[in-house]
Amino acid sequence: MESERFSASSFLKVINIFNLHYLLALFSLFLIVASGLLIGIALSLPLKDLCLSSQFQQLFTPSSAFKPSPPPYPSLSPPPPIKFSTIVNNTSSSNPTTESEPLTKSSSDIHPNQTTTVALNRTGMNKDVLKPPKAIIHEAPLSETPKVAFMFLTKGPLPLAPLWEEFFKGIHKDLYSIYVHYPPSFNQTPPETSVFHGRAIPSKVVNWGDMNMIEAERRLLANALLDFSNQRFVLLSESCIPLFNFSTIYNYLINSSKNFVEAYDMPGPVGRGRYRSKMKPTIKLEQWRKGSQWFQIDRALALEVVSDSTYFPLFKRLCKGSCYGDEHYLPTMVSIRFWEGNSNRTLTWVDWSKGGAHPARFRRMDITKEFLERLRHGSVCEYNGKQTDVCHLFARKFMPHSLDRLLRFAPKLMQFA
Ligand SMILES: *[C@@H]1O[C@H](CO)[C@@H](O)[C@H](O)[C@H]1NC(C)=O
Ligand SMILES: *[C@@H]1O[C@H](CO)[C@@H](O)[C@H](O)[C@H]1NC(C)=O
Ligand SMILES: *[C@@H]1O[C@H](CO)[C@@H](O)[C@H](O)[C@H]1NC(C)=O
Ligand SMILES: *[C@@H]1O[C@H](CO)[C@@H](O)[C@H](O)[C@H]1NC(C)=O
Ligand SMILES: *[C@@H]1O[C@H](CO)[C@@H](O)[C@H](O)[C@H]1NC(C)=O
Ligand SMILES: *[C@@H]1O[C@H](CO)[C@@H](O)[C@H](O)[C@H]1NC(C)=O
Ligand SMILES: *[C@@H]1O[C@H](CO)[C@@H](O)[C@H](O)[C@H]1NC(C)=O
Repeated sequence: MESERFSASSFLKVINIFNLHYLLALFSLFLIVASGLLIGIALSLPLKDLCLSSQFQQLFTPSSAFKPSPPPYPSLSPPPPIKFSTIVNNTSSSNPTTESEPLTKSSSDIHPNQTTTVALNRTGMNKDVLKPPKAIIHEAPLSETPKVAFMFLTKGPLPLAPLWEEFFKGIHKDLYSIYVHYPPSFNQTPPETSVFHGRAIPSKVVNWGDMNMIEAERRLLANALLDFSNQRFVLLSESCIPLFNFSTIYNYLINSSKNFVEAYDMPGPVGRGRYRSKMKPTIKLEQWRKGSQWFQIDRALALEVVSDSTYFPLFKRLCKGSCYGDEHYLPTMVSIRFWEGNSNRTLTWVDWSKGGAHPARFRRMDITKEFLERLRHGSVCEYNGKQTDVCHLFARKFMPHSLDRLLRFAPKLMQFA
């Protein structure tokens, strides 16, 4: 009962994101149908049942969960044409930029029943509701050019935005999408020329270390999932930088046979000490994991995260205060249910060597070519079964004043396009 209530409320939150005007402004109609379907199924199935998420999976993923999509194309310029039509005929691909149109906030909420009905009517193909009918064909992510969704969870502005602008410069919009979860009070708008323009999603207050941070991550994922082309999902903060150019990062993510959710078992007060024994029997002490929240995951796992009605409610209820759910929820959930597809490491470099509750922050004079080179190639790890010295694609935490030196070194060092 308890868990059902929590699940229902979390799904209602997802629904609140998608009011009708917002959607209409945003996506082409087939995406509306998709979201309705996503939410509708969520609302119309017994939530306690784990088959819910596998239903999602069957509906929305083309093949098996952790197999990478077929590599699309290694060269990034000139921008290739969208090739949706070889799999699904006559799609909305004539207007490929629709999905990149500004996300807008609006105050009216879509009626949950409306969403459900639209979703349920999908099978009946109600022509009045679901226009144009041909859009309904989309049930699966059939794009041949998978996108990487870059999802920024910020405490305020994006001081390193100019670096990211350089990173995305010249990259075709069919290869990536951007979503930003600002604090609700944040009301600055990036200029129209910015890749961040109109990419804000409806947000709620986030307290660092609280489970409402996971809710924000779920909001980002839910928004990004509406675009079927998004096949990899990267969570970033405002202090993150890329360590390689777009094509290297894109290929690494799209080609990976594993997810990157850092997860490790740690004895002592800041590891197992944060376990709550009331989580038994769903989560046993030996299943408790810790790890960085900054993940890189595929679509199948992203769907599991937004539809998790077992572990998420449990964490929300029991993981409070010094439990720090943001460091334990995903590592624990993934390690219990999806460990096979997980590398147990994150691609986001961070320096904990100085000790304390927060990782090292990098300022202006910390930024040297040698330092950046060390982050790029300074460790050894496994990637798709082979050893590599490319273990991190992103790094944190970079302070605003580091920007000018980053802009000076990074584009050349990282061979930005
Ligand atoms: C797509 O169209 C072609 C001809 O234009 C047809 O042969 C094929 O069966 C169609 N595919 C689907 C899935 O409708
Ligand atoms: C799309 O539909 C038109 C007719 O409406 C057809 O001629 C064309 O072959 C279709 N496109 C594809 C890619 O099948
Ligand atoms: C949604 O519809 C069901 C019946 O289809 C009804 O019982 C319920 O009250 C409706 N919910 C709202 C919020 O109107
Ligand atoms: C759903 O479909 C049925 C029959 O196709 C129709 O009577 C009903 O009005 C539809 N509901 C909505 C909300 O479109
Ligand atoms: C994926 O890896 C294969 C080799 O394993 C390579 O040939 C291909 O170019 C890669 N694709 C991408 C998109 O990086
Ligand atoms: C990740 O951790 C799990 C235990 O939580 C373990 O079973 C699995 O083998 C690990 N995977 C890798 C790639 O190390
Ligand atoms: C990206 O960087 C790699 C080296 O990491 C380089 O080989 C490649 O040419 C660069 N791509 C572009 C588009 O500049």
